[in-house]
Amino acid sequence: MKVPNNKLSSLKSYFFESLESINREEVKRYFSFLCNAWLGLSKTDLIINPDREISESEILKFLYGIKDLKKNRPIQYVAGKTWFYGLELKVDEGVLIPRPETEELVDWIVRDCRESKKLLDIGTGSGCIPLSVKSKLENLEVFGYDFSKQALETAEANANSLGLVVNFEEFDILNWKSYVSPDGFDVIVSNPPYIPESDKALMHENVLEYEPEMALFVPNENPLVFYKSIVDYAVFNLARPGKLFLEIHESFGGEVIQLFNDVKNCSVELRKDLQGKDRMIKVLFHR
Ligand SMILES: C[S@@+](CC[C@H](N)C(=O)[O-])C[C@H]1O[C@@H](n2cnc3c(N)ncnc32)[C@H](O)[C@@H]1O
Repeated sequence: MKVPNNKLSSLKSYFFESLESINREEVKRYFSFLCNAWLGLSKTDLIINPDREISESEILKFLYGIKDLKKNRPIQYVAGKTWFYGLELKVDEGVLIPRPETEELVDWIVRDCRESKKLLDIGTGSGCIPLSVKSKLENLEVFGYDFSKQALETAEANANSLGLVVNFEEFDILNWKSYVSPDGFDVIVSNPPYIPESDKALMHENVLEYEPEMALFVPNENPLVFYKSIVDYAVFNLARPGKLFLEIHESFGGEVIQLFNDVKNCSVELRKDLQGKDRMIKVLFHR
């Protein structure tokens, strides 16, 4: 099978025929995702412009894309980018693909932190959280920490291409006492690894095979390991008054909230995501 000519409509037919073992709606989504990412075409362009010429090098990209999709590689890694809270972000196998529920957390922060001064994101991955917050709250000084060098490179590349200033640094939250932290964070946010190893059996192959393990999993016997360190870190490094925002596993809301029982003078708010799942909390550290 070959792409018979350089027209968009022919590429589309070829794409659909090559991926006929995959659900048609999915293939439709993949095609429009790649056309947007690689050709800058919207869904409407795809409908009104079937004769658009596609260059040989563009066709080649799609041919490689089809091979990758057959191997279950997530569409965002195939495209090399994704969209998050209105920003285009480079993504590769060194970073987690940002999720829609994290956009909901970002939206909460953007609405709630207009007067804040200094924000730290712990476990920043692609930089999606600090970059999207910075894009809306220009006067906020923003930091993004991660233990993965590969993630930090991608986050830096995203900051550069978006022209946003975020201070990205290598940091191990599980060993935070070995680092000197800047003073005066009045917002700390984190979407840390929180999936118990035992959940692997329930997860899609494309996540397990392609997304970074260190971004996702925690030991079954200590699933809150990151939250415990983040709470300790916040007790020492978050200004009062200050705000801590956390994304959480839908099954661990109660346990994460309990971690604040011993923190003096704070109050916790739990929120559900649009799917109705317990998904994020805000902790106010009062004066
Ligand atoms: C669930 S991902 C979140 C990535 C990104 N913030 C997002 O929302 O898409 C967790 C991140 O924590 C980072 N991480 C894992 N262990 C860490 C550690 N010990 N210290 C700091 N960051 C760590 C991973 O590299 C990964 O980028």
